[in-house]
Amino acid sequence: MSTYSYADCLQKSYRVNWKISDVIGGRHFDPSRRWLPAKLSAADRIACLTPAEKLKLSQVEMGAYAHLFGYVEEFIAPKMVTLAQDFMLDNREAFDALTNFAAEEVKHMTLFREIRAGVDAALGFPLALLPGATDVARAVLGKHTGAVLLLTAAIEWFTQLHYLTCFENDESLDPFTRHIFRSHWLEESQHARMDHLETLRAFRHMTEAEKDHAVDDLIDLVAAVDGLLQTQAGLDVQNLQACLWRPLGEDERQEVYAGVLAAKRYTFIESGVTHPNFQELFGLVTTAAQQERVQKALGAVLAPAA
Ligand SMILES: [Fe+2]
Ligand SMILES: [Fe+2]
Repeated sequence: MSTYSYADCLQKSYRVNWKISDVIGGRHFDPSRRWLPAKLSAADRIACLTPAEKLKLSQVEMGAYAHLFGYVEEFIAPKMVTLAQDFMLDNREAFDALTNFAAEEVKHMTLFREIRAGVDAALGFPLALLPGATDVARAVLGKHTGAVLLLTAAIEWFTQLHYLTCFENDESLDPFTRHIFRSHWLEESQHARMDHLETLRAFRHMTEAEKDHAVDDLIDLVAAVDGLLQTQAGLDVQNLQACLWRPLGEDERQEVYAGVLAAKRYTFIESGVTHPNFQELFGLVTTAAQQERVQKALGAVLAPAA
């Protein structure tokens, strides 16, 4: 069983902590390379696009990928500030670790805002991206803490998986993009471990009825995430069209939309909920019946993508 500690997370975060200038520092995107790895992109599953068009698709998808991290950090940062208050007088290490976690997320939001501006400049037009981050953050924060923490844990574990299995060893990718997500991965490693600790703490004293409530809210959140992915997939088609030298036909637009949505569902839902560390955590805090309910809800979202 995993043995994480706030003190260890804090020390590791001090060791890897970076400034935005360390990440961006005069670097530029290379338009001749792919910006998102094959596993996280729809590019290779779409038959109607030429190789040059697939390259463009991976670039607009990366803009959306970076945007979605900044988008979810809008609720993760305030959640960690709230949780840190439980420790503010009696457990300085946990308080330091969680407030540092929140501060890193605020920095990441700024980083991703600057990345999006760089993407717009490199592509030559402003990408259409999901609006309403503040309203979505407010709605998520209105859900049960157990549900918010499980969603956050799934997201932060998949940032680990994406970097280690997709970005780290793909020499064909744009080097700037790899550098961005390496930097994010370094700090997210500690966040995922603290999500684990905070989720265990949140569930420790819950009644079965409260756990059921948390699981109901988690199911609602998964459906909401899927709705956001559907919207962004539509915007990605629009963004791709803005990059191309020819109009896409209706069948082609449908094919691109379906491929992009399937890639996003893998990226933002499936790769998180199937991560072994998330599964370990989920198994520790829920009953078999609750797990089955979540599986059923996930099946409804992920089955069409299979
Ligand atoms: Fe982050
Ligand atoms: Fe994070």
